[in-house]
Order: sequence, then structure tokens, then C-alpha cells
Amino acid sequence: MRASDPLESPDTILTRVSGFPMKRYEQFAEQMAGLIRGGVLPPGQKLPSVRQAARTHGVSLSTVFEAYYLLESRGLITARARSGYYVRATAQHPLPEPGPAAPPAPTSDVDVSELVFSVFGSLKDPDIVPFGSAFPSPELFPLARLARSMSHALHRLAPDTIIAEMTEGNAELRRQIALRSAGFGIRRPLDELVITSGAMEALNLCLQCLTQPGDLVAIEAPAFYASLQVLERLKLKAVEIPVHPREGIDLDYLEDCLQRLPIKACWFMSSLQNPLGASLSDERKQALYALLVRHRLPMIEDDVYAELHFGDRPPRPVKSLDTEGLVMHCGSFSKCLAPGYRIGWVSGGRYSEAIQRLKLMTTISPSIPAQAAIADYLQHGGYDRHLRKLRHELESRQSSMLASAARHFPEGTRVTRPAGGYLLWFEFPERVDSLQLCRQAMALGISLAPGPIFSATRRFGHCARLNSGHRWDERKELAMATLGELLHQP
Ligand SMILES: Cc1ncc(COP(=O)(O)O)c(C=O)c1O
Repeated sequence: MRASDPLESPDTILTRVSGFPMKRYEQFAEQMAGLIRGGVLPPGQKLPSVRQAARTHGVSLSTVFEAYYLLESRGLITARARSGYYVRATAQHPLPEPGPAAPPAPTSDVDVSELVFSVFGSLKDPDIVPFGSAFPSPELFPLARLARSMSHALHRLAPDTIIAEMTEGNAELRRQIALRSAGFGIRRPLDELVITSGAMEALNLCLQCLTQPGDLVAIEAPAFYASLQVLERLKLKAVEIPVHPREGIDLDYLEDCLQRLPIKACWFMSSLQNPLGASLSDERKQALYALLVRHRLPMIEDDVYAELHFGDRPPRPVKSLDTEGLVMHCGSFSKCLAPGYRIGWVSGGRYSEAIQRLKLMTTISPSIPAQAAIADYLQHGGYDRHLRKLRHELESRQSSMLASAARHFPEGTRVTRPAGGYLLWFEFPERVDSLQLCRQAMALGISLAPGPIFSATRRFGHCARLNSGHRWDERKELAMATLGELLHQP
């Protein structure tokens, strides 16, 4: 496969195609990206310190800082604590990244559930290679330590709290989530917090609070398929907003839609978007928040991958800018600590009380023992140490899958390089039908998530999402080779 030309790198093309005017730090980032892609700065190489780079290139310290943050969010470099910035192993990867998708249809009814169920029906089979799964491998989680926390917490649980905590949730868990949320820049974290059964319940409750059947909701294209299923269940119409694989949601397109259409709410992921892995820069998050305020538009912010960032700095959610209570920030422990415990939360802004009531009218409360166990773990279990190990492992597994794709997938394949998480989005040559690929692969014991399940209008027919979060071994390598053979068929 051809290595990218540093003079005509995807970065350069991206900036021209998307038409954003280049700021000084973007120009500087571009320059550094060219050096990385051209091999002058190879994988593992330490970048000049901020001070040194500022002196050498005659720019300000803040220009270098901003440029390094940008390169970090694009997955080209990574920060190591107290050591500086280094070029990531995947930065010079031979497969190029996808470009922005074409604008979708203006609005549409949503009808994806049958497709989603048919694709995921057989995912539980342990003999299937789980590239289609939405969860990282269970062996990555401290399940034995969590079990100790469960036992410890249950022995200490006061009898009256097992009933009393059903309304508000476990007090210690609320405190621990609020503490971590403050680390992400979220103001008043305790007042607005509602504990839910995973992020999925939080997201459902938010959308239910904001809409009536027939309303328009702005969602991403491509979007997490379960968000489409929620729209379908609530009989809402989707307004698909294109997402750029690196820059995130197209804000100009969103603004245009907001001016023309009576959109009632939006549901976006501002960091490590599923399936693209895109993160909005801090600047673009501010621009998005300004749009929300201007149009009095509530936003449901799905932030379940926030803790899985590869860089030193946690990504700041749009919620961290929210002075008006317009953002409903949803998170959970499903992806980073305790899948299956089904503990999530929402910081609901001005809608917190409505969400709380709706929860009491439907599921009442997530399991109190599970809440107590996670609270105990967060206090005593070494969560930050676990996260550091997890992020490192996921980054290395991502490199393995990218390298394997470069070995086996046909020329013309493009792939994202997210700066966190464990999901990769592949854009195959146009002739590939990913639903057919999915069926063929399944017959050979390999799952994948085909592009059309990520769209209300069944677009992305030549794309697929693959999970890179499972231990890399011969079986995975063989599965990639098999997918490669299927992809090479005319
Ligand atoms: C983007 C996104 N949001 C929400 C969820 C649901 O999270 P939970 O398992 O906490 O309900 C998932 C799980 O796949 C997800 O990928």
C-alpha cells in the first residue's frame, strides 16, 4: 500500500475540503503533521518541548500548545506524564483516513431496528470473532476487585439505605461521580446528578423529557445505532448532521438546519464519537455551545467513552461550558470499568427534576448493591491506575488492528485513527456492500458492524465499524486476513 505523501497529506486535503480558515496554530500543527507523515518525526520520536518549538519556529508558546493539543486530538501524537509529547505508533499508518461524508437527506423517519437485531442476534456466540461488538474484552476489567468491593459494600450497607437510596441513588457513588465530573470541568455536578441503569437509560429519559412523537431531533451521521432505535421507538424524525472523522459534527450544516427546521433537541457525542472516534476541538465545542444558546436548543451529550482518551488531558465535554442548563450530560461505567453492572448517570441541567421523575415513573432505580459496589471500588479500588492500564492496552490493540488492516485490506480502504476508545471505522472501496460482507463474514465466524446500521437513511453501505479492543492474537489476525479475502472479491 502507498505511504501518504507528506506534501499532500490527508491533513492538507482535510483543511481545504472542509473550508475552515486556518489559524496560526493550525498552520503550525499542519507543518508538524507533514513532518510526522513524511517520516522526519518517526513513531516514538519525542517532539521538541513547547519552549524549544516556540523558539525554533518563531511562534508563541500558546500557538505551540494549541497545535500540540490539535495533533493529540487527531491521534498523531500522545502526551506522556512529565516527559512531553511523542509521535504515536499509528501516526504514519499507510491506510489513509476517511474524508467528510456527503450531506444527508433533510429529515427522515427512522426504521433500523430490524436491521440492528438481525446483525447483532448472534453476537453472544463465543466462537464468533467479536469485531462487531460494542464492548471491549471483559478480561480488561477488574472484575475480581469489583467483586471484593461488592462483598465489602454489601456487608456495610445500612438496612434503611437499601430502600431510601432508591430515589436519589447511593450517596457515596453520587459524590464520587460528582468528583470525577468536576475533573472534566462540569459545574454544580452534585445538584443535577441522576443515577440511571447505564447511559442508555439516561439517554432515553433525556429524549423522552424533551420531545413528543413527530418532533425533529438532530443526530449525527453516522450515529450510534442505539440512538436511532430510541428515535424510532419514540416516533421522532431524524435530522442527520454529517460528522467529519476528525473534526466532529459539521457546525455550519447544523446551523443551517437550525435556521430552517423546528428542531426540538440534539443528541451528539462531542468526544470520541461512536462510530468515528471524532472529537470536537475545545474551540469547536465553544462554537457548538454558542449555537445551542442562540437557538435555545437542549443538547443530550453522550460521553460514555470520555475516560478512554489516550492523551494526558481528559476531553472537556460541552457540558463544562453550560451556564444555562441546556446540556444533559450522560455517562456510564459500562465501557471503562464495570460492563453488566448497568450503572450510568446524567447531569441533567434544567431538566434534572423532570428526568428524575420520569425515572421514578418507569424503572425507579438501578440496583442499589451494584451502586454500592462501584462506589466502594471508586474509593478504594485504584480506579485511576486501572484506567491508565486500560488506555495503554487499548492504544496498543488499536495499533495491532491498524497494522493488520494495512496487511490484508485492499487498496482504497480508509480507516479512522481515534485518539481513544476501541472502535475503528473503515471506509472500503465503493464497490463493497458491507451488509453482504457482514453476512459472508458471519458465516465464517466473524462479526462486524456494517455501515447502514449507523444511519437513519441506511447510508454508509461501503463502511463498517470494527472493535479493536480484544486481545490481539492469531485468531484475530486470521479473521482480518479472511475479511481481506472477502473484500478483495470483485
Ligand atoms: C455511544 C454509546 N452510548 C451509549 C451506550 C450505552 O451505554 P450503557 O451500556 O452504559 O447503557 C453505548 C454502548 O454501546 C455507546 O456506544
